Amino acid sequence: MSVTNTPLRTLNEQDVLDQLRALRAKQPVKYTAFYSSQLGGIVTDPALMVIPFDDHMVHRGHGIFDTAGIVNGRIYDLDAHLDRFLKSAERSKLTLPSSRAEMRDIIIRTTAASGRRDGSIRYWLSSGPGNLDLTPAAGAEPGFFVMIFAGLAYPEKWKTEGVRVMTTTYPIKPPLYAITKTTNYLPNVLMQMEAKEQGFDNGVFIDHAGHVGESSNMNVAFVSKDDVLIHPRFDHILSGCTSLRVIELAQQLVKQGRLKDVRVANITMAEALASKEMLLIGSSVRVTGIVQWDQHTIGDGKPGPISRALLQLLEEDMRTGDRLIDVPY
Ligand SMILES: Cc1ncc(COP(=O)(O)O)c(C=O)c1O
Repeated sequence: MSVTNTPLRTLNEQDVLDQLRALRAKQPVKYTAFYSSQLGGIVTDPALMVIPFDDHMVHRGHGIFDTAGIVNGRIYDLDAHLDRFLKSAERSKLTLPSSRAEMRDIIIRTTAASGRRDGSIRYWLSSGPGNLDLTPAAGAEPGFFVMIFAGLAYPEKWKTEGVRVMTTTYPIKPPLYAITKTTNYLPNVLMQMEAKEQGFDNGVFIDHAGHVGESSNMNVAFVSKDDVLIHPRFDHILSGCTSLRVIELAQQLVKQGRLKDVRVANITMAEALASKEMLLIGSSVRVTGIVQWDQHTIGDGKPGPISRALLQLLEEDMRTGDRLIDVPY
């Protein structure tokens, strides 16, 4: 092991600020505004978008989050994402720093301050700083953070050529942790890394009973041979806001006779592999066709018509539906 002779300096405030700015200059990010209840306001300089290292969300993973989208200067489906956020907070025994209405208002006002008209809003609730213990420190105040950023980007060819997934070798989270959107994403991270290492785009969790679960940060669904849209049950995976909306919108395809039915049910891997279409669904990916699972080709190896139709319905809903909130830029 080599040991450097560079002295370890004790830094002053200005040194720290300079170093935070240098880090951001080395690795530019598209974060346009950050609200922190701990700072008591909004910052727009990414170098200042920081939280104390002893916040229990950092060193114990005692925190939750959620992500909503900004589409053409409006926020899409925020209330569904906030409902899930509050359920995750309750299951994680996290105290809310303020009322739901106040948090909602902070999210909207941080979006306005960012000036961003397309992108994502991610917000977190942390157990708060104060010690390096497990249970919250005495007098710990929960932290509420809101980040406005460009959103996750996926290769353009996913839309035209579809996505290739593998069955992950990592175990699915136990149901309580899978239905709660906590900051503990280690299995999800490892699954995605494993898939990339093996030349796939993403992974899929299978549960202990052999039923299909979900992907890293997306749900999966299927169009069966007899034209039924089947989505895995939400009792062992995250209840995707996009999936819940797509399930509603799919009724339009049932009315048009393009689907026979829409079902939320357990689905085995064998049933899934026999389907005509397999879909990835989530806020970041919207609706994208999966064309390969392990060594199996799904359908005819191209994104299918139901996947395209559902994407169209979802994008229409994101542009003109009744789930949009105006942002006072
Ligand atoms: C594990 C997991 N499953 C599914 C989803 C899809 O949820 P949504 O449609 O709300 O983005 C996400 C994304 O948040 C996720 O992290």
